[in-house]
Amino acid sequence: MQPTPSTDATVHTLIIDTDPGADDVIALLFAMAAPERLRIEALTTVAGNVPLAKTSRNARLACEWAGRPEIPVYAGAERPLRRTPIYAANIHGKEGLTGVDVHEPAGPLADGHAVDYLVRTLRAAPEKSVTLAMLGPQTNLALALEQAPDIVRGLRELVLMAGAHFNGGNITPVAEFNVFADPHAAEAVLLKSGVPITMLPLDVTHKILTSDERVARLRGLGNRAGAIVADILDAYAPQEMKHYDMPGGPVHDATVTAYLLQPSLFKGRRIHVEVDSREGMGFGQTVADWYGSLHRTPNVNWIVDGDAQGFFDLLTEHIARLP
Ligand code: RIB
Ligand code: CA
Repeated sequence: MQPTPSTDATVHTLIIDTDPGADDVIALLFAMAAPERLRIEALTTVAGNVPLAKTSRNARLACEWAGRPEIPVYAGAERPLRRTPIYAANIHGKEGLTGVDVHEPAGPLADGHAVDYLVRTLRAAPEKSVTLAMLGPQTNLALALEQAPDIVRGLRELVLMAGAHFNGGNITPVAEFNVFADPHAAEAVLLKSGVPITMLPLDVTHKILTSDERVARLRGLGNRAGAIVADILDAYAPQEMKHYDMPGGPVHDATVTAYLLQPSLFKGRRIHVEVDSREGMGFGQTVADWYGSLHRTPNVNWIVDGDAQGFFDLLTEHIARLP
């Protein structure tokens, strides 16, 4: 069934599942600066870029920096469904937040496991009312679907930063990190959820890149959030630029926030996508049937292009609203 597509005016009741992570924190600050459009019910954290204790601390830090201490943060899965855990501290730093000093936030973790939170919240939610944004490995949702398949009833749509096709992978020649870190979870979400899914893969995130001017504009806002985002990008971007020989650094997860606020910035098409979870060179690959050669039912709105300047204008306008 075709979903009701989100528009540039949609108000989302939103849960953000995340593994902060440098770009996750930017995505979270961006989202928390738009309360009139994104009614954030909670953040749920997962192990990914760094272990769970650090992703959960960093998520609470993002709430503190955004002046949104009321948003509950529930810690979730500390390891993938089946595979050996992997991390990306080489990219995001040992603390998972390169470029800035971290501290123990004042706000505590919410009681209870993120998966239990997802199950009870989605069961209680009105039909098709909750948007779930996923910025890390999809382990929490896969576990929730395993425990309570009926929760799909409460979901409006899933918007994921995940996957790669035309761009090639970033953790292997074919796999993107969030999927590679838990391919079995990604497979379960793609095949079992039956919920409208939009994916923002490396195909689009590697086209929306920082520049000195774009980072200087963020720093020039003169507020703490602008300085934090600029410091993160100044530390995070150069290694990505060097590794991929790109003129700027990607802000992967923040494209999910921008899509929720202004989907008209992006272009893609509904296609059939599957995940390769077999051991071997294709482990974690998203097989995206862009030309429909398999004649299988499209299950993902696969985004391949975006207005980079429009993205940075929207990001900067929102970061300006924060403390
Ligand atoms: O491949 C990029 C993705 O992996 C981003 O979500 C980044 O935060 C890491 O989780
Ligand atoms: Ca992430």
